[in-house]
Amino acid sequence: MQELAGKVAVITGGGSGFGLAMGHKFAAEGMAVVLADIDEEALDEAAAGIAGDVMTHRTDVTKFEEMEALAAAAMERYDRVNIVCNNAGVAGFGGMLEMSISDWQWVIDVDLMGVVNGVKAFLPHLVDHGDGHIVNTASVAGMLTQPGMSAYNAAKFGVIALSESLFYELELLESTVGVSVLAPAWVQTRIFEADRYRPGAESPEGKVAELVRPLMVKLAERGRLTADDIAEKVVEGVKANQFYILPHRGVLSIVKHRHEDIEELRNPSVDQGL
Ligand SMILES: NC(=O)c1ccc[n+]([C@@H]2O[C@H](COP(=O)([O-])OP(=O)(O)OC[C@H]3O[C@@H](n4cnc5c(N)ncnc54)[C@H](O)[C@@H]3O)[C@@H](O)[C@H]2O)c1
Repeated sequence: MQELAGKVAVITGGGSGFGLAMGHKFAAEGMAVVLADIDEEALDEAAAGIAGDVMTHRTDVTKFEEMEALAAAAMERYDRVNIVCNNAGVAGFGGMLEMSISDWQWVIDVDLMGVVNGVKAFLPHLVDHGDGHIVNTASVAGMLTQPGMSAYNAAKFGVIALSESLFYELELLESTVGVSVLAPAWVQTRIFEADRYRPGAESPEGKVAELVRPLMVKLAERGRLTADDIAEKVVEGVKANQFYILPHRGVLSIVKHRHEDIEELRNPSVDQGL
């Protein structure tokens, strides 16, 4: 989709981090922006800070009926939606021995089912008019694995898998709707505060989480790219109809190492830096 001006973008997780940065970038391209988030206060602040045509809608992406209501509200105001960024997400740290079933359910519901709900709520409309693009936010955690992140890894691998599958399906249907999957490495946002939504947040983290979480925080602090840089890559990716949006190219050597483990039937051997 080369021309964005005058079109409409819906962004989940639009109250903070990547989603908010995407809102700024799409608005700067002359798009109307619909920000959706579970955090109403963050939405109000976000809308006040973006120059342009902005609408907010409190939405819990884990509930399909709320995603349908978001689609209905956006269409009522603008008639048409062009870009849908299924971006809301949470990070749940913890080893298999440590995370409860409700912790697992939470991560899968937001990070995987939130994307499924977004695709299901908007895809029929996008396919009908044909001038659409879906951007699903995964992570490099959808291409490589780490201890203490099994639920997040499972959800993000799922987002990449469903996005690739959707890409093939749209080709089979000869649809002009585009799909991209965004897979950054760690960047400083509010992602490390996601535990404020965790159902078992009162339970202490176990040994694996205690080892892994500080390493991830350090990687985010050391990272060169900002949320704005990631959003810029999204705009470029949509314009170029590029499927894989991978802002951190350096990580690809680790992805390659993992693929070689698989091809050569080696046990997982990526250095985790722990
Ligand atoms: N920051 C990183 O290092 C990083 C790296 C790779 C991928 N990601 C992914 O990027 C996406 C955006 O994360 P971010 O880093 O901007 O974090 P963030 O915490 O700054 O923003 C995420 C937003 O999602 C919202 N949210 C959480 N649960 C929700 C729900 N059930 N329904 C609707 N909104 C909900 C939060 O309120 C928050 O505003 C996530 O999918 C995350 O997994 C982040």
